[in-house]
Amino acid sequence: MMNLTWAATAELRGLSRVSRQVSIEEVAARFKRNCRRAGSDPPGMGSTAWLFGDAPLAPVAAVRWTALSTGSAVPLAHMRSSWQAVLMGAHVSAGRSFRYIDLFAGIGGFAAALEAFGGECVYSVEIDPAAAAVYERNWGHSPLGDITKDANDEVVSIPPHDLLAAGFPCQPFSKSGAQRGMEETRGTLFWNILRIIHEHRPTVVLLENVRNLAGPRHGHEWDVIIRELRDAGYRVSAKPTVFSPHLLPIERGGRPQVRERVFITATYDPDSACEADGVPAVIENISQRGDEEWLLTTDLPLGDVEAAPDLELSAAETQWIDAWNDFVELMWAEVRRTDGDGARLPGFPIWVDAWVDAASLEIPEGTPRWKENFLRKNAEFYTKHRVALDAWLNNWPVKEFPPSRRKLEWQAQQTPRLWDCAMQLRPSGIRAKRMTHLPALVAITQTSVLGPLRRRLAWREAARLQGLPDNFDFGGQPAAQTYKQLGNGVSVGAVWNVLRAHAERDKAILERSETGRALYRAIVTDAPKTPDDRLEMVVAAGQRRYREQAAHKRLL
Ligand SMILES: C[S@@+](CC[C@H](N)C(=O)[O-])C[C@H]1O[C@@H](n2cnc3c(N)ncnc32)[C@H](O)[C@@H]1O
Repeated sequence: MMNLTWAATAELRGLSRVSRQVSIEEVAARFKRNCRRAGSDPPGMGSTAWLFGDAPLAPVAAVRWTALSTGSAVPLAHMRSSWQAVLMGAHVSAGRSFRYIDLFAGIGGFAAALEAFGGECVYSVEIDPAAAAVYERNWGHSPLGDITKDANDEVVSIPPHDLLAAGFPCQPFSKSGAQRGMEETRGTLFWNILRIIHEHRPTVVLLENVRNLAGPRHGHEWDVIIRELRDAGYRVSAKPTVFSPHLLPIERGGRPQVRERVFITATYDPDSACEADGVPAVIENISQRGDEEWLLTTDLPLGDVEAAPDLELSAAETQWIDAWNDFVELMWAEVRRTDGDGARLPGFPIWVDAWVDAASLEIPEGTPRWKENFLRKNAEFYTKHRVALDAWLNNWPVKEFPPSRRKLEWQAQQTPRLWDCAMQLRPSGIRAKRMTHLPALVAITQTSVLGPLRRRLAWREAARLQGLPDNFDFGGQPAAQTYKQLGNGVSVGAVWNVLRAHAERDKAILERSETGRALYRAIVTDAPKTPDDRLEMVVAAGQRRYREQAAHKRLL
């Protein structure tokens, strides 16, 4: 067995319940005693135990033990003491098991998964200074830079690595058939990725993009990417792997966010790369949760966030929701009266401006089919429920609301009230959904409104939706910046599961090389089922590196 290294961190928690002051050394001594009393030392503990820096002499109410090792986990029973001790899975420290590069790094969605797998980042790059600053603060090194400067015609100044990760911006390639080969991608950021791949041939390549890349509008781009990877000697499926964190159970890193992304995963296998067709996608785009529904309140969870003025709803927003809430309650009574118990609220967008008597409805020539259908349905709906709807219009100044607030898209099934829903205040109207899961975070600020909490989704909750732990530090930047970076990011749980499924699919190839075996061990054999067991720990380690470097810089 390899040498195991243990580390302990003490967290300040529940300060109100603090009984006395302890030093981290004392905590460590107690931990060792308890392990011995339980029958056996954690392997390697006696010889290589060390404690992380900035050990607090401050009050410690709960101690969180973090085992950093390359080997097996120690049973929780060994950790029990009068201290609340929690063992968080095994993790490589000194002598990490694989090297990775993080291209278009953002704030580090890939870094989160790859650090938790025990990887060591040897290069990262991100052009946006604000995102790069958040990345540095949490991962301990700055990615600030431009990939086109580091990987171009003249140079590829990037160190060797075993895994390349990139959530790259998608740009159209030239469609000229004459320009076959890598040249066709010139001028796009995919070309810069390819330059690195040709130079270093990393064992595994992991690319991520919006779902559209695998759609009909980008068919050419998709074909070129697959062809180029195969030409470079990689085994890669032509079938897109489309995946979303809401498809996963929470205990495997799932989150209540529908965020479908396409993943392209490839393994270097120059001898059989021509065996192109029939390579299966690594993971199916289907739920692994059985029939289990998400519940935002408890699964995310919601709450435990700092109050902030930008979370609050304005008086106007509250009035719009109050008015439409009244509409929903009224309509439930109305449709149940007219249609019986199986009644439903209309599934088409409800638009106050289109409420006219059906007999006098005039559809202008040239109106598109979808719009004609929508106008007709609204007129019929109004005509059928005219008395109730006129009374509602009398009570609320809906006709004076902004045009986009005169529309309701009801996608909340049997939910009794609008205030019980998650809402998006979209340019196309107010969209209401059940409080089960949320739609994909987007880079523009269009934050969901959580009806039962009467506020917007907080950035900390948005970070949870992406699978980032609560100790992830955004450094006090404006909330809009944080939402934007999260909207650009990749779901940590999705990366974790896709990469794991990829390593399992290509196990036979990985087993043929030392690097491949190390990757397989880190990603499958030694990895827990969920990144959540390790994320808090790896983020804390990155933040510690950041602080150490900042202190070092101050000394210089
Ligand atoms: C889709 S985001 C990737 C986000 C990342 N996966 C995460 O989890 O945060 C693409 C990123 O590429 C960055 N980018 C665009 N052009 C770049 C360039 N030439 N060099 C480095 N980064 C670039 C953008 O600033 C953006 O943050």
